[in-house]
Amino acid sequence: MNILITGVTAGFGRQIAIDCVKAGHIVIGTGRRADKLGEIKAELGDNFIPLCFDVSDLTAIKSALGSLDQTLLTNIDVLINNAGLALGLESADKASIDDWQTMIQTNTLGLVQMTHQILPYMVAKNDGLIINISSTAGNYPYFGANVYGATKAFVTQFSLNLRADLLGKNVRVTNIEPGLCGGTEFSNVRFHGDDERASKVYENVEFIRPQDISNMVLWLIDQPKHININRLEVMPVAQTFAGLTVARDL
Ligand SMILES: NC(=O)c1ccc[n+]([C@@H]2O[C@H](COP(=O)([O-])OP(=O)(O)OC[C@H]3O[C@@H](n4cnc5c(N)ncnc54)[C@H](OP(=O)(O)O)[C@@H]3O)[C@@H](O)[C@H]2O)c1
Repeated sequence: MNILITGVTAGFGRQIAIDCVKAGHIVIGTGRRADKLGEIKAELGDNFIPLCFDVSDLTAIKSALGSLDQTLLTNIDVLINNAGLALGLESADKASIDDWQTMIQTNTLGLVQMTHQILPYMVAKNDGLIINISSTAGNYPYFGANVYGATKAFVTQFSLNLRADLLGKNVRVTNIEPGLCGGTEFSNVRFHGDDERASKVYENVEFIRPQDISNMVLWLIDQPKHININRLEVMPVAQTFAGLTVARDL
C-alpha cells in the first residue's frame, strides 16, 4: 500500500513510518525538519519518500505533493494525519496568542488542508483510508488544555463529518483519540524545550508508547475493506477521564 504520514520526524509518526515500511508498504513521510527526515530515509531506504513542509502552509503542501510521482500521488491508499502539537499549559487568561494560533494552524488548518489535497484522489478511485490522530483532550477538558483540546475536538468532529460525506464512496475514516503517551517529543514541545518539566509528566506512570499507537494503526490498515472503525479512544490504565472539580469558598 501507499501510505502518507504527516509528522514522521518524531513520536508516533516516526514509529508508524518504520513499522509500515517494515510491513512492506511504501511510505511518504512528512515533517518540517529536513535533517530528521534524512535520518529516517537513511534508515528505511527506497520505500520511504521524505517530503519537507509545514502542514499549515498550503502553498508548501501543494509544491511538495506536486514533486511526487503523479501515479503515486493519485494512488495513496492511506492518509495518516498525525502532525500536531500542544503549546503551553497556562490557563486561558494567561496563554500566549502565538501558541494558540500555531495550534489552530497546525492541528486544524493543517489537517484539513492535507485532507483536502488527498481525499479527491481516494474518492476518484473509490478506495482509501484516512486515519486522524486526535486526542482524549478533544473529548474531556483538563486544566490548561483550552485551545489544544478545542483543536482536537475539531479533529474528532471533522472525522465524523467526513464519514457522513463519504457514505457510499468506499473511503474509510478512523479517529484515534489517545490519552497520556510518552516516548515522544510532545511535552518537550508543549513546554517550549523545558526537558525537566516535560519529564515530570511521565514520572511514575506506565504511559502509552508510540509502539502501542503504531500497532493500532497497522491493525486498522489490515481491517477488511467493508469495515469502518469510527473511533479508537485509548488511555493508559493509570489515567482516568473523571475529573469534576469544585472551587470552594474557604
Ligand atoms: N503524546 C501524547 O501524549 C499525545 C496524546 C494524544 C494525541 N497526541 C497527538 O499525536 C500526534 C503526534 O504527537 P507525538 O506525541 O508523536 O508528538 P511529537 O513527538 O512532538 O511529534 C509531532 C510530529 O508532528 C510534526 N509537526 C508538528 N508541527 C508541524 C507542522 N506545522 N508541519 C509539519 N509537521 C509538524 C513534527 O515534525 P517537525 O517538528 O519536523 O515539523 C513531528 O514529527 C499529535 O497530533 C498530537 O497532538 C499526542
